[in-house]
Amino acid sequence: MANATTTQRPVPLAEVDGDAAAPRPTGVEEFDRVLGGGLVPGSVTLVGGEPGIGKSTLLLQAAIAMAGLGLRCLLVCAEESAQQVKRRAARLGPLPAGVWVVAETSLAGVLAAVDEVAPDVLVVDSIQTVFDSEVESGPGSVTQVRACALSLVRVSKSQRLATILVGHVTKEGTLAGPRVLEHMVDTVLSFEGERHHALRLLRATKHRFGATGELGLFEMTDAGLRGVPDPSGLFLGDRRHGAAGSAVFPAMEGQRPLLTEIQALVAGSNMAMPRRSASGLDGGRLALLVAVLDERAGVNLTGREVYVSVVGGVRVYEPGADLATALALASAAFNHPLPTDLVACGEIGLAGELRQVSHTPRRLAEAARLGFRRALVPQSAEVPAGPLEVVRAGTLVEAIGLLQLRRSRDTEATESRSRPPGWAGRPADGSPIDANNIATQSAR
Ligand code: TYD
Ligand code: MG
Repeated sequence: MANATTTQRPVPLAEVDGDAAAPRPTGVEEFDRVLGGGLVPGSVTLVGGEPGIGKSTLLLQAAIAMAGLGLRCLLVCAEESAQQVKRRAARLGPLPAGVWVVAETSLAGVLAAVDEVAPDVLVVDSIQTVFDSEVESGPGSVTQVRACALSLVRVSKSQRLATILVGHVTKEGTLAGPRVLEHMVDTVLSFEGERHHALRLLRATKHRFGATGELGLFEMTDAGLRGVPDPSGLFLGDRRHGAAGSAVFPAMEGQRPLLTEIQALVAGSNMAMPRRSASGLDGGRLALLVAVLDERAGVNLTGREVYVSVVGGVRVYEPGADLATALALASAAFNHPLPTDLVACGEIGLAGELRQVSHTPRRLAEAARLGFRRALVPQSAEVPAGPLEVVRAGTLVEAIGLLQLRRSRDTEATESRSRPPGWAGRPADGSPIDANNIATQSAR
């Protein structure tokens, strides 16, 4: 077996060619966005995702695009035949010269192919199906996966080729694959989405050459993956207008603002511990918001089930989503919709105070671009000049008040409690008391 161990000699830092480590674009825009420009020669990137999500398609498209830019790409298809890869490629459009394919599962065979083709880019699909016959352990085992990846990392470094390893991850995220390789590679990308939905999200969870905050968005079509350059519109496309429990939050995904819908549902429960469920949001943060709503804003969710979800499989883990989440919850609790042309953005402190978040002007500019007309922001927030009407609130309770979320009958109930007995239900205009009205009120 070709053992590619090299001995490095120290060199003066001033003589090191920094540009040699500059990323080279793959030509797939959303992929490059996540990579911070492209693939760095000599780097190893792990692309993880559930089976069927589109990893092979993405990497074949990237290989085709890179070959189009003049790079030599070698695809090791360890799970499919070369014919299957060819058939997939036929769906993706014209095939330039420079894409090589080998259906190989033995590590020695892979290394021989690398020697023969001398590629700029190597794709191994998947690392779990490659095995090293010198390692006494079954294919797919942790030992095998690690040994094969280590050899490929060495070859990448010594021959300065950009290597992409594909790894399958199961729904639980467990597997003798991606997880055990994360520390060995330079970049870990995760390709996600729901199989029954066309949207695919690519994000970096580790990136030695740049930031990890960028999100790549694709749509799976009949002709492969297509980049989604205007994701905000896509996420809001199915939004139901006038529904209670929905709020729009202008999130930041890396450098890009992304409008997301946060939905909340508050339901009755017979359980001693009613469910609290957060999807796409942090569960701990939800618990905090429920407590703040109760203690600081008089929105009591005790004994009720609470569900919040970010639409479209997006994850929003920034505290800037607090205000929109809390408003969605209040809107659901009072069954009173928020204005459809409103976005909300702000962090909520434990005292119920609103705090400004970074990049507010960019977030609001994106909201304005998509036709939103009002923004609810903390008192201190910086806002862009533009068409958006900015509504400021210092506290959550003030925000809820400004939006008049409390239903009138709740208001009546509150007011009636503070009035002396006998006043309950008496209409303000002094007309006779409606007995039915009193009955329903006292039964409440
Ligand atoms: P694939 O890339 O094989 O997924 P993975 O490598 O992650 O297991 O693609 C999976 C699905 O994508 C498969 O069900 C077929 C579908 N697909 C399309 O819808 N359009 C296309 O152009 C291609 C190539 C695949
Ligand atoms: Mg595949």
